[in-house]
Amino acid sequence: MENINTMEAKKQQEIINVLKLQFAEMEEKEGRKKTFHIETFGCQMNSRDSEKISGILKEIGYVETDTEEADFVLYNTCTVRENANNKLYGHLGFAGKLKKKNPDMLIAICGCMMQEHEAVENIKSKYRFVDIIFGTHNIFKFAELLQTRLISDRVVIDIWKDTKMIIEDLPNDRKYSFKSGVNIMYGCNNFCSYCIVPYVRGRERSRNPKDIIEEIKTLAADGVVEIMLLGQNVNSYGKNLDDPITFAQLLQEIEKIDGIERIRFMTPHPKDLSQELIDTMKNSSKICKHLHLPIQSGSSRLLKIMNRKYTKEGYLDLVRRIREAIPDISLTTDIIVGFPGETEEDFLETLDVVGQVGYDSAFTFLYSRRTGTPAATMENQVEDNVAKDRFDRLLKLVQEGSAKSAGRDEHTSQKVLVEEVNSQNPELLTGRLSNNILVHFKGDTSLIGSIVEVYLKESKGFYYMGELLDL
Ligand code: 5AD
Ligand code: SF4
Repeated sequence: MENINTMEAKKQQEIINVLKLQFAEMEEKEGRKKTFHIETFGCQMNSRDSEKISGILKEIGYVETDTEEADFVLYNTCTVRENANNKLYGHLGFAGKLKKKNPDMLIAICGCMMQEHEAVENIKSKYRFVDIIFGTHNIFKFAELLQTRLISDRVVIDIWKDTKMIIEDLPNDRKYSFKSGVNIMYGCNNFCSYCIVPYVRGRERSRNPKDIIEEIKTLAADGVVEIMLLGQNVNSYGKNLDDPITFAQLLQEIEKIDGIERIRFMTPHPKDLSQELIDTMKNSSKICKHLHLPIQSGSSRLLKIMNRKYTKEGYLDLVRRIREAIPDISLTTDIIVGFPGETEEDFLETLDVVGQVGYDSAFTFLYSRRTGTPAATMENQVEDNVAKDRFDRLLKLVQEGSAKSAGRDEHTSQKVLVEEVNSQNPELLTGRLSNNILVHFKGDTSLIGSIVEVYLKESKGFYYMGELLDL
């Protein structure tokens, strides 16, 4: 018997086929293809979702354009911090004006922010020109929602609270021909007390290892050499499958796939990063020597209130074990400043960890109060000017640390995945090292998408200038 996911994918494909005919007729009449534009906010999960929607739009017969002056505009939203929300409203104001000029224009919004009731209500009342609103759980239904809007002439709103469905076999348009994100799991069960993600992305669901391997094999056959495995906490991958498997075991299986030369993943939670994973990374020739290991705070007291389930000492010990096994690993992190109740002592603990670890780079965030999370109602919110002052001090230390670790590989030759022609100087190519750092060097555009050996002549702080080596 076909399972429900396969049946749903079939149904959606049939709708895409119907729309395809409809759009071909329109093209014939109007003498041009309809255009679309997707504006994506937030993390790599959202980028991957946008690729899926773009794939459906292209199959229907739309062509992509790089401005919002298009027949169909979609905003794929993020809500992890307040400023992510504000960005959307700026764009919507602009889109509203465009729609006045082109009343046939369709405007859609999806993504994490649409999982929040208040945001949707706000859009319904203040931005009445929006045509389609959907959330994070039913992206696969996009063609059906578009069809409904075309038939009904009324706003279509379809937001699911959660889902157990995992539907993948639909069109999908990769931004790069040679690298791709691969979702291995959806949702999050961790409930860090500041974080909105578990509320907008739902409970944790792992994809079947067989399906993931099949997808990666297909990507490899299609010329993909680098994959980024995506999940909110990849360390808990596979725990809830009928036949449980660990993330490290999944990596070992992926390692065997011919054609895949680099494996990256995001994001591991420090609380359950296993020795098995460290050993797997150590013994692998394909897993990139980079770990993004969000610490959030260096204060064990705050980490407890944040519900992170590790201590400062535990984190530092983990870093020590990782470095012992993989000495040339590049470490990056996320840090929040100004979490409710953060004292100067707590903050100094954070500075201490940053000093001790010496991150290659760190994303630093001012705490943002997210309605619905436990931290939002905590009474001792930190004053803005205090948080801002700490933020500046932290940033300075992070930048000093990055400057110190930059240039570590100067005067060595390294493998580089060539990604594109340099945007500033068309004579140069730009590629990435295994540790994600950029390298610019002279070379032919035919090299884009391949892995080449480059001598790192000079470190420029956050990137290198290199020289292509003949093999
Ligand atoms: N305020 C500030 N930063 C946050 N992050 C998540 N929630 C918040 C919040 N409420 C940060 C964390 C996380 C990253 C993706 O965003 O550092 O690791
Ligand atoms: Fe990504 Fe979280 Fe933002 Fe959603 S809310 S786009 S999961 S960072």
